Amino acid sequence: MTIDPTLIKSSFAAVEPHGSAVTAYFYTHLFEHNPDVRKLFAEHLNEQQDRLWAALGTLVNKLDDTDTVVNVLQGLGRRHAGYGALPEHFPAVGASLLAALAHFAGDAWTPETEASWTALYGVVTEVMSAALTEEAAG
Ligand code: HEM
Repeated sequence: MTIDPTLIKSSFAAVEPHGSAVTAYFYTHLFEHNPDVRKLFAEHLNEQQDRLWAALGTLVNKLDDTDTVVNVLQGLGRRHAGYGALPEHFPAVGASLLAALAHFAGDAWTPETEASWTALYGVVTEVMSAALTEEAAG
């Protein structure tokens, strides 16, 4: 399955008006299913909540601009080495991300939409993990 930018954009647009309820759902889901990652997020969760979703918004908006997307993801990946994130954390974060999107997208969430987000998150994981691993190795 390939990434369908139209489906990604329409589902993200359906979720966006729900604002901070989406981020709250995402973190509750993540920490409930993976209590061990909670400690990585320190006390800064409120600022952090908005930044993760702002970064996702940038990716969705720039989806057709591969160079920018890859640059943004490489920068994020390098910085995540300093947060203690590991490549094996990505599936858990992706599962909670998709759960939050599915919960708030309503009718915009279809099997095709889910497959498209799964493919996009696969790319995010690949590029961020590679940059993170490289950075962690020094
Ligand atoms: C879709 C993938 C992800 C995106 C878009 C994302 C985005 C962000 C952004 C924008 C920040 C704010 C700081 C910065 O810009 O460098 C951040 C911080 C952080 N992220 Fe991620 N992230 C992702 C995946 C992950 C994963 C897999 C983990 C592992 C558990 C993680 C853990 C953290 C931590 C611990 C912080 C610092 C929080 C703090 O300041 O307490 N992120 N992330």
